[in-house]
Amino acid sequence: MQHQKILVLDFGGQYNQLIARRVRDLKVFCDLKPYDMPVEKIREYAPVGIIFTGGPNSVYEAHAPRVEREVLSLGIPVLGICYGAQLIAHMLGGTVEHAEAGEYGKCTLSIKKGTPMSEGVPKESVCWMSHTDRIVSLPAGFETLASTAGCPVAMYGCEEKKLYGIQFHPEVVHSEYGTKLLENFLFGICGARGDWTMESFVQDEVALLREKLKGGKVLLALSGGVDSAVAAALVHRATSQLTCVFVDHGLLRKGEAEEVERIFGGMVNLVKVDAGARFLQKLQGVTDPEKKRKIIGAEFIKVFEEVAKSIGRVDFLVQGTIYPDVIESGKGGSAVIKSHHNVGGLPEVVDFKEIIEPLRDLFKDEVREVGTELGLPDAIVHRQPFPGPGLAVRIMGEVTPERLKTARDADAIFREEMERAGLTREIWQYFAVVTDSKTVGVQGDFRTYEEVIALRAILSVDAMTADWARIPYDVLERVSCRITSEVAHANRVVYDITSKPPATIEWE
Ligand code: XMP
Repeated sequence: MQHQKILVLDFGGQYNQLIARRVRDLKVFCDLKPYDMPVEKIREYAPVGIIFTGGPNSVYEAHAPRVEREVLSLGIPVLGICYGAQLIAHMLGGTVEHAEAGEYGKCTLSIKKGTPMSEGVPKESVCWMSHTDRIVSLPAGFETLASTAGCPVAMYGCEEKKLYGIQFHPEVVHSEYGTKLLENFLFGICGARGDWTMESFVQDEVALLREKLKGGKVLLALSGGVDSAVAAALVHRATSQLTCVFVDHGLLRKGEAEEVERIFGGMVNLVKVDAGARFLQKLQGVTDPEKKRKIIGAEFIKVFEEVAKSIGRVDFLVQGTIYPDVIESGKGGSAVIKSHHNVGGLPEVVDFKEIIEPLRDLFKDEVREVGTELGLPDAIVHRQPFPGPGLAVRIMGEVTPERLKTARDADAIFREEMERAGLTREIWQYFAVVTDSKTVGVQGDFRTYEEVIALRAILSVDAMTADWARIPYDVLERVSCRITSEVAHANRVVYDITSKPPATIEWE
């Protein structure tokens, strides 16, 4: 089935992925594409509506990014947000000026004229602004639909041409009626039907995969994470020829390897490799964080290569690539803070005909929804992000079997208590770290000299930035009591109160 599509043209603003996610949340499919997508490609893509995002430029700069003029006369409705709104006004003969003072944060939005865009939005509401330039005059045929104290044209439109602009950010949660405005644009103006549901995605994708895979041999690397698990369950619906390889590097959290085995063992042809001893041996004496990461990454590929050889040539290699990876790839250019390894090196060591990426159109929330749709348990679907090198980067210094057990047991207690306190969904990530400090303690009548365990819990939306979570003291107290009494070689617990930046989420 062909879904209706919205095209989101990216002008480089901070919230661009968020705009696309909001549109998808409203059950309308959309893609985020570079702003300079040629007009003939746009015509071919055949969206029911186009959204221009915000961006860091000023429209009157010589090299400011813009679209071809024809994009505005295709007869396809366009909504410009922030820079996008200024661009439409500027291109059609309106005036945009640098304002003396910018407008940042919450403002009161006053609706000036009731139109399909403002359907269901009260006369006054809170919106969230972030701009210095502002529109001071509109092109002929356009009218002001809403204003704020500092911005006479906070929303405008031309009903006849179906072109609209919003100066504030409807996609952020602080804009009270932001979602309503997007909904009005999608449904009231573009005529979207809301045909993008995960139920329909599963149906369509399974049908496509069935056609494509047709009895071919399929291979997938399971990591225990959400993406590969959902990809496996989805592909499994379409073929009985799926082999999943699960390399247990021995650095997973308590119970995780068993869980993967329990769920997928009965579902697909599962090849589980217990490589824990091998990884530990390689890590012996290694204390440098980057070295640890590199060793684990390389060893992972090596183990996988051995398994792949024993399986022989396959027709399809499945990868759990998701939409943010697709958007991000190719941007590049930033400094390497930590070398990440997931299953990136696999294509080089597997003999296959074609790569299949069944989740490449989905955002993380959508992947989780698909997982639930496919009947995967919450423990997998709502699993927290977990680094590829596993507990090795949560043990400062050398990874020994003893310290691994300390890390695993402390982490399990923290997780249990967070679950008991009902805090698991609102906290992005929480885990225990074995620091490389030892301190003196007293347990019973004896002096101890043991490891310091640090607890880390953070709030984040995308792991790019994070704030430390204000966990209730009584939860922290229970975790601390339990760790110091139940976990071997731990006699002190501290709480990490550092945000990212300046720290990173993981300690290594
Ligand atoms: P940092 O520590 O860089 O972590 O602030 C950001 C997010 O990425 C996760 N992380 C990893 N994920 N492979 C992964 O798939 C890795 O090697 C890796 N290292 C860190 C981390 O848990 C956090 O969610």
